[in-house]
Amino acid sequence: MPEKPAILKLDDKEFVLPVLVGSEGERAVDVRTLRDTTGHITFDDGYGNTGACESGVTFIDGEKGILRYRGYSIEELAEKSTFIETAYLLIYGQLPSAAQLAAFKERILDNAQVHEGLRIALSGFPSTAHPMAVLSATLNTLGCYYPELGTNERAHDLAQLDEAAAVLISKVRTLAALAHRAKEGQPPVYPKPGLNYCGNFLHLMFSQPNADSEIHPEVAKALDLILLLHADHEQNCSTSTVRMVASGGANLFASVSAGVCALWGPLHGGANQAVIEMLEEIHRSGDDGSRFIAAAKDKSSGVRLMGFGHRVYKNYDPRAKIIKAQCDKVLKVLGRKDPLLDIAMRLEDAALNDPYFKQRNLYPNVDFYSGIILKAIGIPSEMFTVIFAIGRMPGWISHWKEIAEAPKQKIHRPRQVYVGETLRSYVPIEKRG
Ligand code: SDX
Repeated sequence: MPEKPAILKLDDKEFVLPVLVGSEGERAVDVRTLRDTTGHITFDDGYGNTGACESGVTFIDGEKGILRYRGYSIEELAEKSTFIETAYLLIYGQLPSAAQLAAFKERILDNAQVHEGLRIALSGFPSTAHPMAVLSATLNTLGCYYPELGTNERAHDLAQLDEAAAVLISKVRTLAALAHRAKEGQPPVYPKPGLNYCGNFLHLMFSQPNADSEIHPEVAKALDLILLLHADHEQNCSTSTVRMVASGGANLFASVSAGVCALWGPLHGGANQAVIEMLEEIHRSGDDGSRFIAAAKDKSSGVRLMGFGHRVYKNYDPRAKIIKAQCDKVLKVLGRKDPLLDIAMRLEDAALNDPYFKQRNLYPNVDFYSGIILKAIGIPSEMFTVIFAIGRMPGWISHWKEIAEAPKQKIHRPRQVYVGETLRSYVPIEKRG
């Protein structure tokens, strides 16, 4: 039975607007004919109430703290799957057969190396460059070394997606490690066959030219989990950016490069670096967290409890729960204690019992605990958002693919409510006073 439409009453006229219902029962008023029929547009700054598209990649229920990739719960994937298998699921929509997974891994392994020219270009960045700036630049530059994979001719680029996806998933890791080593003034090392995706990344990051770094399997596993938990998150700021750029017909390299720029902001993917810096500041100042919480509640302070709050989750971010449990495991395996973890848990406890945070449904999000694990692994805090970008790469690719496969290629072009100057005439400079 078709869904009952919405009736909009404007200037004593009634307009019938269809209601769309998603596969999880989400309902949306379809306003695609609104301007033509009523002369009005909608207004929703920050898009908090706006569905930009129909998508089948990821489902989130913010009230219930539910996150599913292609219908599989994040809890089940975190327990039973791996980052590369989940990447395949996100991009192709189904869990791979053993043969499909082996071929996917093979293609990724074969693409680990980057062209010497790109390595030389990357070495030209100042050592003070933030790795996210280097990553966004080198991802777009990567497209120059694979012109046949990113021609901006949509049907052609879509046909090359398998190869472009493998190039990006594999090389984003190599570029990240090269950016880190260039910053540290270390010579590059080459990818090592026989290591899995995360094992090779840690090798590229930390091995010396004549001495491979000891990679603890639990550490590689913890990193794999972090990447899996970051793999997609429906229409967040950076994924919406990738879709916006893709909607103009741009190739995958340009689209994900724009996604990296959007992810960098401290309100978005940059929060994981901001959380660790916040915890370190609290630790340095000897504050037990109460002073910081008070500041985070005081609007005039400009301080926010980083890693807390979310536009969609009005309940605990399911990823934060999983990462928090992993923190203890990794620290125990490494025989480490981290005072920042104690501070984080004290902050969480205080905030979850504080009316300011409770009234605003502010809970820990994916970024609150992830830095503790990354720090324990030895990843410098400036690289935390780069790790987020490596994890999010399959998600960005799956959304680019969804745009590219859409039967109707529609460029994204929102409207606005103009609030600037009304018509006025030019005044010659001598008469401007
Ligand atoms: C990610 O969208 C995604 O899916 C993103 C992500 C993904 O996987 O792609 O999940 C990854 O980006 C997680 C979020 C990481 N960012 C942070 O941790 C930064 C700190 N959090 C915030 O700045 C904030 O909570 C946002 C940006 C995450 C959400 O902001 P909203 O939805 O625009 O909410 P808001 O800023 O309007 O805040 C609502 C109220 C305000 O108070 P009032 O004006 O109502 O009095 O809550 C307050 C805010 O001041 N508030 C906070 C707060 N977050 C919101 N107060 C103190 N500390 C905070 N962290």
